[in-house]
Amino acid sequence: MMRVGIDVGGTKIAVGLVDGGNILAKERFASYPGAPQSTIADMAREVKALVSAHGLGLDQIGGVGVGFAGTVDSDAGVVRTSANLRWTDVDVRTPLSSALGLPVRLVNDADAAAWAEYRFGAARGYDSVVAITVGTGIGGALIFGDRVLEGRHGLAGELGHFTYEPGGLPCGCGRVGCWEQYCSGSRMNALAAERLPATNGLATARDVDPLALAGDPVALGIFEEIGTALGAGMASLGMIFDPDLFLIGGGVSESGELLLEPTRREYTRQMGLGGFPCAKIVAASLGNDAGIIGAADLGATAR
Ligand code: BGC
Repeated sequence: MMRVGIDVGGTKIAVGLVDGGNILAKERFASYPGAPQSTIADMAREVKALVSAHGLGLDQIGGVGVGFAGTVDSDAGVVRTSANLRWTDVDVRTPLSSALGLPVRLVNDADAAAWAEYRFGAARGYDSVVAITVGTGIGGALIFGDRVLEGRHGLAGELGHFTYEPGGLPCGCGRVGCWEQYCSGSRMNALAAERLPATNGLATARDVDPLALAGDPVALGIFEEIGTALGAGMASLGMIFDPDLFLIGGGVSESGELLLEPTRREYTRQMGLGGFPCAKIVAASLGNDAGIIGAADLGATAR
């Protein structure tokens, strides 16, 4: 049976009609911090529109999976916190499920994306995967022995919020020095605005890629800085999880080797200092679709 996957990210929401590992149709709209009830209503409306545009009824849909950019209690169907969307203790499952008349399962967005890569993409066939989603924030997922580890409170794999620099930059989660403040898309936006020339308004992360490809040393330096922070953090994660594979996904990872080269270099340098074996590092292969596919697939165990 077909399913619906919804990927609620830090700046956009994508809704898709999913059949196994394939998306048959999808729509995107903007997400705004601090507007949970209207966002849930938007999600219900978009799902209905997408399903009927495809000539289907809601009764032909097996269920809905929602991947949310924040800490979620998936047993309760409740968003606990969100560093970037600023939702606190929001029940998503009850209103969405009653608006659609379908079972809904809520999971973390990075868990959803990593699960899709594990089932259908670049992480297929690996037994232990630490997935890092470099987007507005840094998402993380831990897949060990065919399971996503969520932890007692849904905090397991919140890799963006381990302390990378004690006393460092303030984070949206309320703490300081979190890893995502050093190597996420938000950090890239900040470095672009600070260091690259303004054209139509301040430069953003989007301007870094073309400039770096053209050999601009300042833009290349931004990738170097972001990649180095990513690789250094991964070396610490390697000491905790010792995975077969680090999977790097999310919008920023679409810059490919511009990001992965300095990341790999710093990771292997740090592991080499201790003479430790390195895990494999690969880029995610499903792109933006991973969040939708994984939410739908994980949602198949809807409660
Ligand atoms: C949130 C995570 C989320 C990640 C990517 C982080 O700030 O804490 O829950 O997975 O951003 O959206």
